[in-house]
Amino acid sequence: AAAEKGGFDWFMRKEIFEQPKAIADTLLGRYSARGELVLDEIRISPETLRRIDKIVIIGCGTAHYAGMVAKYAIEHWVRIPCEVELASEFRYRDPIVNPQTLCVAISQSGETADTLQAIRHAREQGSHVIAICNTNGSTIPRESDAVIYTHAGPEIGVASTKGFTTQLVACYLLGLYLAQIRGMKYGDEIRDVMDELQQLPAKVQELLDHASTVYELAHQLADQEDYIFLGRHVGYPAALEGALKLKEIAYLHSEGFAAGELKHGPIAIINPDMPVFVIVPPQGRDQLHDKVVSNIQEVRARGARTIVLAEQGDEHVVQFADTVIGLPTVSTLLQPVLAVVPLQLFACEVATALGNDVDQPRNLAKSVTVE
Ligand code: G6P
Repeated sequence: AAAEKGGFDWFMRKEIFEQPKAIADTLLGRYSARGELVLDEIRISPETLRRIDKIVIIGCGTAHYAGMVAKYAIEHWVRIPCEVELASEFRYRDPIVNPQTLCVAISQSGETADTLQAIRHAREQGSHVIAICNTNGSTIPRESDAVIYTHAGPEIGVASTKGFTTQLVACYLLGLYLAQIRGMKYGDEIRDVMDELQQLPAKVQELLDHASTVYELAHQLADQEDYIFLGRHVGYPAALEGALKLKEIAYLHSEGFAAGELKHGPIAIINPDMPVFVIVPPQGRDQLHDKVVSNIQEVRARGARTIVLAEQGDEHVVQFADTVIGLPTVSTLLQPVLAVVPLQLFACEVATALGNDVDQPRNLAKSVTVE
């Protein structure tokens, strides 16, 4: 068994460290020498895709958070309204889906019953379904019109890691592809983003090379029982995913919030010494970065212990951070791929320190095949 884990103590840790390769494999062959995105597997005609007027993204757990990130990217690049919904909620509310709707079902296993029932419902209404999946020949791809496979390799740890980051990459590819066939004026942006995507494996590797900093933090915080994760824009789903990892394998109370919502309620629960992880958007022209920096000040003023994930060299955050985790430079939309890595490592280390079975956490299954 030790050999199967490639010298790691857990499959989950091994899979976290496999992410540079998993991301590179997911990108492989999808960018032509002519600078065009090639997604031959999307067997829905460009004419049909040009008529789409709404996109609905469906998933559960981690896949749902990947979908939340996808919404930001797809709406920005494609300019088609995009909804994200929990698969278990979708069918039962009589959703408005029709032949002009593109349904994107995200599922690592391809067997999640909630997601499967949701796409069946969408197809009954005539909507087109694209699956984003990591498991060849599984049920959800088989019942979809097309599938984009994430090439992460088998994911054994119940808590998804490389599954998530490769889902993000597949979502970016889908968004850029839709932008490309709809002849968007973002031609240059597609090329720039593709270049950035190709650089992600090296940037993730850089974060993994500094795992020991995150492990030390995990040991410093080992006696804490409540954690908060804050983020804004695509940092919000990344915060939710960080909190989910800690719930799943460390069994700790952790909550993710949109940083802008803090003042509308969550700030009331901040206690002195409570660890608050904050994902700071890259420094840019918009005010997003500064707003999140103010949020760090707000929680710090209530005595929280702030762990700040910010772009390397971001001097604005240093004075308000108890710990800074530097993220390699990347554009805002792609930042979750990097931000989530230290959060995965943190959860894995805390769970290990607590003596939990990281690969087989209590009460959870890798793939839930009942509704
Ligand atoms: C289960 C797993 C989660 C996963 C979710 C969706 O609840 O424990 O880790 O995110 O299912 O799984 P899927 O295979 O559809 O991505």
